[in-house]
Amino acid sequence: MTKLLEINDLSIEFDSGAERNRAINNISITVDRGEIVGVVGESGCGKTITGLSVLRLLPDTASITSGNVRIDGDDVLSLSNKKLRALRGSKVAMIFQDPSTSLNPVFTVASQMRRVVKQHRDISSAETRRLMSERLEAVGLSDIDRVLAAYPHELSGGMKQRVMIAMALIGEPELLIADEPTTALDVTVQSQILALLMDIRDRFDLGIMLISHDLGVVSQVVDRVVVLYAGSVVERGPVPHFAEPEHPYTKGLIGSIPKSTTERGSLEPIEGTVPYDPGGIGGCVYASRCPDRMDVCLEAAPSLDAVGIGTAVACYLVGQR
Ligand SMILES: Nc1ncnc2c1ncn2[C@@H]1O[C@H](COP(=O)(O)OP(=O)(O)O)[C@@H](O)[C@H]1O
Ligand code: SF4
Ligand SMILES: [Mg+2]
Repeated sequence: MTKLLEINDLSIEFDSGAERNRAINNISITVDRGEIVGVVGESGCGKTITGLSVLRLLPDTASITSGNVRIDGDDVLSLSNKKLRALRGSKVAMIFQDPSTSLNPVFTVASQMRRVVKQHRDISSAETRRLMSERLEAVGLSDIDRVLAAYPHELSGGMKQRVMIAMALIGEPELLIADEPTTALDVTVQSQILALLMDIRDRFDLGIMLISHDLGVVSQVVDRVVVLYAGSVVERGPVPHFAEPEHPYTKGLIGSIPKSTTERGSLEPIEGTVPYDPGGIGGCVYASRCPDRMDVCLEAAPSLDAVGIGTAVACYLVGQR
């Protein structure tokens, strides 16, 4: 069966004139209907760029140098502009970290939602009103009239993110790309928004790509996890696999997550930083920071090999021939 989203062997390069930077290196990720897939990695690992490529929203300086992106089998990268407009919103929608910057401060919620409705449907103002109310209710908001009349600054962070999700759902997309949707929110609100993502997944049979720097957060709600390091997939598998991950980077990520407030003292961040041009590295992308590095790691990149059902790891220490 055709997957809802298939990213195949995708590479993305930035070219600023003076220098080139291969930020994404031959990655493959799939998302099915009714499935939440977590894409996890530190800041700068390529999560946002990957999400943007699905909607063909990459900055002008970026170009795709290999691979393709398919939604329901359609090659996104070769769609005409007309088909691309149809894809955005009615097939795929994206929400971002900070709902304050995504909402326009000078317009009410109603006027911003109405604009989105107009992009998708040719319906009367009474029907528009009904559709907006339905979506706001679907994301758990009440007192709908007050929400519709409000300006963004009159709503809490959590309410704003709910409004963004309601707007994303207007065109009845099949795929939602949620880029750090809870990072700007406090912990309680964060759990509520994650619960909402699971709820709309069930209700609308959505596929969701949930992008986050926090493996702990993501593991609560996703079905599968893809770990991205420096533009490469280094480990992937179903959530239970990540109780004991195998890639040294993923182990490091888990080591840097506090399990409870009492453990905060034992927190050990991974030393070093994500390399700038990972496409230019000959060996393993993680070699410069890896505590287990061997000579072979600097010579050639390890391939992403299956180690179990649906599980794959790119490391010479794990299952490589
Ligand atoms: N506008 C840009 N110009 C040049 N390089 C960029 C740009 N945006 C992103 N990159 C490169 O792509 C990498 C990944 O960025 P991004 O996808 O935003 O990471 P993440 O979302 O995981 O924090 C960055 O580290 C940088 O090297
Ligand atoms: S291949 Fe080598 S450097 Fe890379 S993660 Fe494995 S042990 Fe570390
Ligand atoms: Mg990002």
